Amino acid sequence: MIERTFVMIKPDGVGRGLVGECIRRFERRGLKLIGLKMQRLTESKAALHYKEHAGKAFYDALIAFITSGPTVQMVWEGNDAIKQVREMNGATNCLEAAVGTIRGDFGLSHQKNLIHASDGPETAVREIALYFDESELVDYELLCPEWLQ
Ligand code: CMP
Repeated sequence: MIERTFVMIKPDGVGRGLVGECIRRFERRGLKLIGLKMQRLTESKAALHYKEHAGKAFYDALIAFITSGPTVQMVWEGNDAIKQVREMNGATNCLEAAVGTIRGDFGLSHQKNLIHASDGPETAVREIALYFDESELVDYELLCPEWLQ
């Protein structure tokens, strides 16, 4: 089923020059980039994004980290996109992420794990709407989309 998912490259991913590497992986997999922007998150935006983690032991450090530098927001579209992007990112804790995933190839931290992606369809709708107006999502055809169905 064709799905949309929200992906954010975190300040460590931007600061380490891994934006292109992440985009390259998703593009080569066959996913379609339909939304893209860059911003440094305010504390209030970060609190909205991570509201389900409020009160957890790592929450304050997470908000400090995610607001510490620029981030890149993206919407990717494709067959089973939510699950496939999660698998390409790897386990939340980079120390447990499989080699071959973005976190397993480039990270060594639990908190500084380079990239975020929606964990399910409702989250994807909520997170996309948090960062993008529908008018900012671009409709176009990839070359030969029939190879990716
Ligand atoms: P993310 O997928 O963006 O969702 C919540 C984030 O909180 C997670 O990636 C990590 O950056 C961070 N996080 C989750 N659990 C922990 C933890 N136990 N210790 C430190 N950071 C965590």
